[in-house]
Amino acid sequence: MEEREFQALLQQKTQAVEEIIKGYLPREEGAQKTVIEAMNYSFLVGGKRLRPLLMWETYRMFGGEDRIVEPFLAAIEMIHTYSLVHDDLPAMDNDEYRRGRLTTWKVYGEGMGVLAGDALLNYAFETMASALVREGNGSCPDCQGSAEKAADTLERTRTMARAMSVLAERAGIYGMIGGQTADVEAEERGTALDMERLLFIHEKKTAALIQAAMMIGAILAGADADAVKDMEKCAYNIGIAFQIQDDILDVVGDSKELGKSVGSDAQNSKQTYVTIKGLEQSARDVEALSLEAVELLQRLPGDHAFLEELIRTLIHRRK
Ligand code: IPE
Ligand code: IPE
Ligand code: MG
Ligand code: MG
Ligand code: MG
Repeated sequence: MEEREFQALLQQKTQAVEEIIKGYLPREEGAQKTVIEAMNYSFLVGGKRLRPLLMWETYRMFGGEDRIVEPFLAAIEMIHTYSLVHDDLPAMDNDEYRRGRLTTWKVYGEGMGVLAGDALLNYAFETMASALVREGNGSCPDCQGSAEKAADTLERTRTMARAMSVLAERAGIYGMIGGQTADVEAEERGTALDMERLLFIHEKKTAALIQAAMMIGAILAGADADAVKDMEKCAYNIGIAFQIQDDILDVVGDSKELGKSVGSDAQNSKQTYVTIKGLEQSARDVEALSLEAVELLQRLPGDHAFLEELIRTLIHRRK
Protein backbone atom coordinates (compact mmCIF):
# COMPACT_ATOMS: atom_id res chain seq x y z
CA MET A 1 0.00 0.00 0.00
CA GLU A 2 1.32 3.43 -0.94
CA GLU A 3 2.13 5.93 1.79
CA ARG A 4 -0.38 8.50 0.51
CA GLU A 5 -3.17 5.97 0.27
CA PHE A 6 -2.34 4.67 3.75
CA GLN A 7 -2.32 8.15 5.33
CA ALA A 8 -5.67 9.01 3.76
CA LEU A 9 -7.17 5.73 4.95
CA LEU A 10 -5.72 6.18 8.42
CA GLN A 11 -7.27 9.61 8.70
CA GLN A 12 -10.61 8.38 7.45
CA LYS A 13 -10.66 5.36 9.77
CA THR A 14 -9.53 7.37 12.80
CA GLN A 15 -12.32 9.85 12.11
CA ALA A 16 -14.86 7.03 11.88
CA VAL A 17 -13.64 5.55 15.19
CA GLU A 18 -13.79 9.02 16.72
CA GLU A 19 -17.44 9.48 15.73
CA ILE A 20 -18.44 6.10 17.15
CA ILE A 21 -16.64 6.28 20.46
CA LYS A 22 -17.77 9.86 21.15
CA GLY A 23 -21.36 8.68 20.90
CA TYR A 24 -20.91 6.50 23.99
CA LEU A 25 -19.82 9.29 26.34
CA PRO A 26 -22.14 10.35 29.17
CA ARG A 27 -23.88 13.74 29.10
CA GLU A 28 -22.35 16.43 31.26
CA GLU A 29 -25.31 17.06 33.53
CA GLY A 30 -26.65 16.41 37.00
CA ALA A 31 -24.96 16.65 40.38
CA GLN A 32 -22.04 14.54 39.08
CA LYS A 33 -21.37 17.00 36.26
CA THR A 34 -17.78 17.73 37.33
CA VAL A 35 -16.54 14.15 37.23
CA ILE A 36 -18.31 13.62 33.90
CA GLU A 37 -16.64 16.73 32.50
CA ALA A 38 -13.27 15.48 33.74
CA MET A 39 -13.73 12.05 32.13
CA ASN A 40 -14.88 13.56 28.84
CA TYR A 41 -12.03 16.08 28.91
CA SER A 42 -9.37 13.39 29.03
CA PHE A 43 -11.17 11.25 26.47
CA LEU A 44 -11.89 14.02 23.97
CA VAL A 45 -8.54 15.83 23.96
CA GLY A 46 -7.38 13.34 21.37
CA GLY A 47 -4.99 10.46 21.12
CA LYS A 48 -4.14 8.16 18.28
CA ARG A 49 -7.07 5.82 19.03
CA LEU A 50 -4.73 2.96 18.23
CA ARG A 51 -6.50 0.29 20.28
CA PRO A 52 -9.98 0.80 18.75
CA LEU A 53 -8.35 1.04 15.30
CA LEU A 54 -6.58 -2.28 15.82
CA MET A 55 -9.77 -3.86 17.12
CA TRP A 56 -11.85 -2.68 14.20
CA GLU A 57 -9.29 -3.66 11.58
CA THR A 58 -8.92 -7.11 13.10
CA TYR A 59 -12.70 -7.46 13.19
CA ARG A 60 -12.89 -6.58 9.49
CA MET A 61 -9.97 -8.83 8.64
CA PHE A 62 -11.92 -11.80 10.00
CA GLY A 63 -15.00 -10.83 8.05
CA GLY A 64 -16.87 -8.85 10.69
CA GLU A 65 -19.22 -6.31 9.22
CA ASP A 66 -21.81 -5.17 11.70
CA ARG A 67 -22.13 -2.84 14.66
CA ILE A 68 -21.61 -5.41 17.42
CA VAL A 69 -18.02 -4.17 17.70
CA GLU A 70 -18.92 -0.53 18.39
CA PRO A 71 -19.43 -0.55 22.19
CA PHE A 72 -16.15 -2.44 22.49
CA LEU A 73 -14.29 0.23 20.48
CA ALA A 74 -15.53 2.80 23.00
CA ALA A 75 -14.88 0.61 26.03
CA ILE A 76 -11.25 -0.15 25.23
CA GLU A 77 -10.48 3.52 24.58
CA MET A 78 -12.16 4.43 27.90
CA ILE A 79 -10.01 1.91 29.74
CA HIS A 80 -6.86 3.06 27.96
CA THR A 81 -7.70 6.70 28.74
CA TYR A 82 -8.30 5.91 32.41
CA SER A 83 -4.90 4.20 32.54
CA LEU A 84 -3.30 7.42 31.26
CA VAL A 85 -5.26 9.66 33.65
CA HIS A 86 -4.04 7.61 36.61
CA ASP A 87 -0.53 7.12 35.19
CA ASP A 88 -0.09 10.92 35.08
CA LEU A 89 -1.09 11.50 38.72
CA PRO A 90 1.56 12.92 41.09
CA ALA A 91 1.54 9.60 42.97
CA MET A 92 2.56 7.84 39.76
CA ASP A 93 4.50 9.56 36.94
CA ASN A 94 3.63 13.10 37.98
CA ASP A 95 3.15 14.46 34.46
CA GLU A 96 1.54 17.74 33.49
CA TYR A 97 0.92 17.31 29.77
CA ARG A 98 -0.94 14.65 27.86
CA ARG A 99 -2.42 14.60 24.37
CA GLY A 100 -1.26 18.17 23.86
CA ARG A 101 -3.13 19.56 26.86
CA LEU A 102 -2.74 19.81 30.62
CA THR A 103 -3.31 16.47 32.32
CA THR A 104 -6.68 15.80 33.93
CA TRP A 105 -5.36 16.21 37.48
CA LYS A 106 -3.74 19.55 36.56
CA VAL A 107 -7.10 20.85 35.32
CA TYR A 108 -9.50 19.25 37.79
CA GLY A 109 -7.33 18.49 40.84
CA GLU A 110 -5.94 15.21 42.09
CA GLY A 111 -9.09 13.91 43.75
CA MET A 112 -11.12 14.49 40.61
CA GLY A 113 -8.30 12.93 38.55
CA VAL A 114 -8.61 9.73 40.58
CA LEU A 115 -12.40 9.77 40.25
CA ALA A 116 -12.37 10.54 36.51
CA GLY A 117 -10.13 7.51 35.97
CA ASP A 118 -12.38 5.34 38.11
CA ALA A 119 -15.40 6.67 36.24
CA LEU A 120 -13.92 5.88 32.82
CA LEU A 121 -13.09 2.34 33.89
CA ASN A 122 -16.54 1.78 35.30
CA TYR A 123 -18.23 3.41 32.31
CA ALA A 124 -16.39 1.04 29.98
CA PHE A 125 -18.12 -1.85 31.74
CA GLU A 126 -21.45 -0.01 31.85
CA THR A 127 -21.13 0.44 28.08
CA MET A 128 -20.36 -3.21 27.37
CA ALA A 129 -22.87 -4.58 29.87
CA SER A 130 -25.75 -2.53 28.50
CA ALA A 131 -24.88 -3.59 24.94
CA LEU A 132 -24.96 -7.18 26.14
CA VAL A 133 -28.35 -6.70 27.78
CA ARG A 134 -29.71 -5.05 24.61
CA GLU A 135 -28.41 -7.89 22.48
CA GLY A 136 -29.90 -10.47 24.88
CA ASN A 137 -33.27 -8.76 24.61
CA GLY A 138 -33.13 -9.45 20.89
CA SER A 139 -32.25 -7.11 18.08
CA CYS A 140 -33.39 -8.93 14.98
CA PRO A 141 -36.87 -7.61 14.10
CA ASP A 142 -37.13 -9.75 10.94
CA CYS A 143 -36.95 -13.07 12.73
CA GLN A 144 -39.20 -12.20 15.69
CA GLY A 145 -39.93 -15.13 17.93
CA SER A 146 -38.28 -17.78 15.78
CA ALA A 147 -35.98 -20.53 17.03
CA GLU A 148 -33.42 -19.27 14.56
CA LYS A 149 -33.52 -15.86 16.18
CA ALA A 150 -33.17 -17.33 19.68
CA ALA A 151 -30.09 -19.31 18.64
CA ASP A 152 -28.61 -16.30 16.91
CA THR A 153 -29.18 -14.08 19.96
CA LEU A 154 -27.65 -16.67 22.26
CA GLU A 155 -24.59 -16.99 20.03
CA ARG A 156 -24.10 -13.24 19.79
CA THR A 157 -24.49 -12.64 23.52
CA ARG A 158 -22.03 -15.45 24.25
CA THR A 159 -19.53 -13.93 21.86
CA MET A 160 -19.91 -10.50 23.44
CA ALA A 161 -19.55 -11.95 26.94
CA ARG A 162 -16.29 -13.61 25.86
CA ALA A 163 -15.03 -10.34 24.42
CA MET A 164 -15.90 -8.50 27.62
CA SER A 165 -14.12 -11.12 29.68
CA VAL A 166 -10.95 -10.75 27.58
CA LEU A 167 -10.96 -6.99 28.09
CA ALA A 168 -11.59 -7.37 31.83
CA GLU A 169 -8.70 -9.79 32.21
CA ARG A 170 -6.15 -7.89 30.09
CA ALA A 171 -6.95 -4.62 31.86
CA GLY A 172 -6.75 -6.09 35.34
CA ILE A 173 -4.24 -7.58 37.78
CA TYR A 174 -3.13 -10.17 35.21
CA GLY A 175 -2.76 -7.43 32.60
CA MET A 176 -2.37 -3.65 32.59
CA ILE A 177 -2.82 -3.06 36.34
CA GLY A 178 -0.37 -5.89 37.02
CA GLY A 179 2.17 -4.22 34.73
CA GLN A 180 1.69 -0.80 36.30
CA THR A 181 2.16 -2.42 39.72
CA ALA A 182 5.49 -3.96 38.71
CA ASP A 183 6.46 -0.64 37.08
CA VAL A 184 5.77 1.35 40.27
CA GLU A 185 7.58 -1.20 42.43
CA ALA A 186 10.63 -1.24 40.15
CA GLU A 187 10.81 2.54 40.36
CA GLU A 188 10.48 2.53 44.16
CA ARG A 189 13.12 -0.16 44.63
CA GLY A 190 15.57 1.42 42.25
CA THR A 191 17.61 -1.80 42.02
CA ALA A 192 18.77 -2.91 38.58
CA LEU A 193 16.05 -4.37 36.39
CA ASP A 194 16.85 -7.36 34.25
CA MET A 195 15.47 -7.80 30.77
CA GLU A 196 13.05 -10.51 31.85
CA ARG A 197 11.45 -8.24 34.44
CA LEU A 198 11.35 -5.28 32.07
CA LEU A 199 9.67 -7.39 29.40
CA PHE A 200 7.13 -8.53 31.97
CA ILE A 201 6.36 -4.88 32.72
CA HIS A 202 6.10 -3.93 29.03
CA GLU A 203 3.96 -6.95 28.24
CA LYS A 204 1.53 -6.30 31.03
CA LYS A 205 1.31 -2.53 31.15
CA THR A 206 1.12 -2.00 27.40
CA ALA A 207 0.91 -5.14 25.26
CA ALA A 208 -2.00 -6.57 27.28
CA LEU A 209 -4.51 -3.93 26.11
CA ILE A 210 -3.26 -4.15 22.54
CA GLN A 211 -3.74 -7.91 22.76
CA ALA A 212 -7.27 -7.35 24.08
CA ALA A 213 -7.98 -5.09 21.10
CA MET A 214 -6.94 -7.62 18.48
CA MET A 215 -8.27 -10.70 20.27
CA ILE A 216 -11.67 -9.03 20.71
CA GLY A 217 -11.75 -8.02 17.04
CA ALA A 218 -11.18 -11.66 16.10
CA ILE A 219 -13.63 -13.05 18.68
CA LEU A 220 -16.48 -10.72 17.67
CA ALA A 221 -15.98 -11.63 14.02
CA GLY A 222 -16.38 -15.30 14.92
CA ALA A 223 -12.76 -16.35 14.36
CA ASP A 224 -11.70 -19.72 15.78
CA ALA A 225 -9.48 -20.27 18.83
CA ASP A 226 -6.30 -20.69 16.72
CA ALA A 227 -6.90 -17.38 14.99
CA VAL A 228 -7.45 -15.64 18.34
CA LYS A 229 -4.11 -17.11 19.51
CA ASP A 230 -2.41 -15.81 16.36
CA MET A 231 -3.72 -12.31 17.06
CA GLU A 232 -2.58 -12.57 20.68
CA LYS A 233 0.95 -13.33 19.47
CA CYS A 234 0.90 -10.65 16.80
CA ALA A 235 -0.36 -8.06 19.31
CA TYR A 236 2.31 -9.09 21.81
CA ASN A 237 4.96 -8.00 19.32
CA ILE A 238 3.12 -4.81 18.42
CA GLY A 239 2.66 -3.98 22.10
CA ILE A 240 6.26 -4.58 23.18
CA ALA A 241 7.51 -2.61 20.16
CA PHE A 242 5.05 0.16 20.98
CA GLN A 243 6.30 0.51 24.55
CA ILE A 244 9.97 0.37 23.49
CA GLN A 245 9.25 3.19 21.02
CA ASP A 246 7.47 5.06 23.83
CA ASP A 247 10.63 4.71 25.93
CA ILE A 248 12.72 5.93 22.98
CA LEU A 249 10.46 8.95 22.38
CA ASP A 250 10.71 9.88 26.05
CA VAL A 251 14.42 10.45 25.31
CA VAL A 252 14.53 11.71 21.73
CA GLY A 253 10.94 12.85 21.08
CA ASP A 254 9.63 16.34 20.64
CA SER A 255 7.18 17.26 23.39
CA LYS A 256 5.04 19.40 21.05
CA GLU A 257 4.71 16.61 18.54
CA LEU A 258 4.22 13.94 21.22
CA GLY A 259 1.71 16.00 23.16
CA LYS A 260 3.31 14.96 26.45
CA SER A 261 6.42 15.92 28.36
CA VAL A 262 9.64 14.23 27.31
CA GLY A 263 12.28 13.29 29.86
CA SER A 264 9.63 12.06 32.29
CA ASP A 265 11.33 8.67 32.70
CA ALA A 266 14.73 10.23 33.44
CA GLN A 267 13.12 12.64 35.88
CA ASN A 268 11.64 9.67 37.74
CA SER A 269 15.00 7.81 37.48
CA LYS A 270 13.12 5.10 35.68
CA GLN A 271 14.86 2.15 34.12
CA THR A 272 13.49 1.65 30.63
CA TYR A 273 14.28 -0.40 27.57
CA VAL A 274 16.53 2.45 26.45
CA THR A 275 18.52 2.67 29.70
CA ILE A 276 19.14 -1.08 29.52
CA LYS A 277 19.77 -1.62 25.81
CA GLY A 278 20.66 1.83 24.50
CA LEU A 279 18.88 3.86 21.82
CA GLU A 280 20.24 2.07 18.77
CA GLN A 281 19.55 -1.47 19.90
CA SER A 282 16.12 -0.38 21.12
CA ALA A 283 15.27 0.98 17.66
CA ARG A 284 16.48 -2.24 16.04
CA ASP A 285 14.30 -4.28 18.40
CA VAL A 286 11.24 -2.15 17.59
CA GLU A 287 11.78 -2.89 13.91
CA ALA A 288 12.43 -6.62 14.35
CA LEU A 289 9.41 -7.16 16.62
CA SER A 290 7.19 -5.20 14.25
CA LEU A 291 8.33 -7.02 11.12
CA GLU A 292 7.74 -10.33 12.87
CA ALA A 293 4.17 -9.17 13.59
CA VAL A 294 3.73 -8.29 9.90
CA GLU A 295 5.02 -11.71 8.83
CA LEU A 296 2.60 -13.40 11.18
CA LEU A 297 -0.28 -11.47 9.62
CA GLN A 298 0.88 -12.34 6.12
CA ARG A 299 0.41 -16.01 6.89
CA LEU A 300 -3.26 -15.42 7.73
CA PRO A 301 -6.22 -15.17 5.36
CA GLY A 302 -8.29 -11.99 5.00
CA ASP A 303 -7.46 -8.47 3.97
CA HIS A 304 -4.73 -7.15 6.27
CA ALA A 305 -2.98 -4.69 3.98
CA PHE A 306 -3.95 -1.69 6.12
CA LEU A 307 -3.02 -3.44 9.38
CA GLU A 308 0.39 -4.36 7.99
CA GLU A 309 1.06 -0.79 6.93
CA LEU A 310 -0.12 0.48 10.31
CA ILE A 311 2.37 -1.79 12.10
CA ARG A 312 5.15 -0.66 9.75
CA THR A 313 4.30 3.00 10.31
CA LEU A 314 4.45 2.57 14.09
CA ILE A 315 8.15 1.57 13.82
CA HIS A 316 9.07 5.16 13.00
CA ARG A 317 6.30 6.94 14.83
CA ARG A 318 7.15 10.33 16.33
CA LYS A 319 4.03 10.52 18.49
C1 IPE B 1 0.51 5.92 25.76
O1 IPE B 1 -0.35 5.31 24.82
C2 IPE B 1 0.78 4.98 26.88
C3 IPE B 1 1.46 3.76 26.50
C4 IPE B 1 0.90 2.61 26.67
C5 IPE B 1 2.77 3.81 25.92
P1 IPE B 1 -0.61 5.98 23.41
O2 IPE B 1 0.68 6.42 22.82
O3 IPE B 1 -1.46 5.07 22.58
O4 IPE B 1 -1.44 7.28 23.81
P2 IPE B 1 -2.57 8.07 23.04
O5 IPE B 1 -3.84 7.30 23.20
O6 IPE B 1 -2.18 8.21 21.60
O7 IPE B 1 -2.64 9.39 23.76
C1 IPE C 1 2.27 3.73 30.80
O1 IPE C 1 3.60 3.72 30.40
C2 IPE C 1 1.49 2.61 30.32
C3 IPE C 1 0.13 2.67 30.89
C4 IPE C 1 -0.51 1.62 31.20
C5 IPE C 1 -0.55 3.96 31.10
P1 IPE C 1 4.27 5.17 30.44
O2 IPE C 1 4.16 5.76 31.80
O3 IPE C 1 5.61 5.10 29.82
O4 IPE C 1 3.29 5.95 29.44
P2 IPE C 1 3.45 7.50 29.10
O5 IPE C 1 4.83 7.69 28.53
O6 IPE C 1 3.20 8.26 30.36
O7 IPE C 1 2.39 7.74 28.05
MG1 MG D 1 4.03 5.15 33.79
MG1 MG E 1 3.71 7.86 32.22
MG1 MG F 1 6.46 6.56 28.55
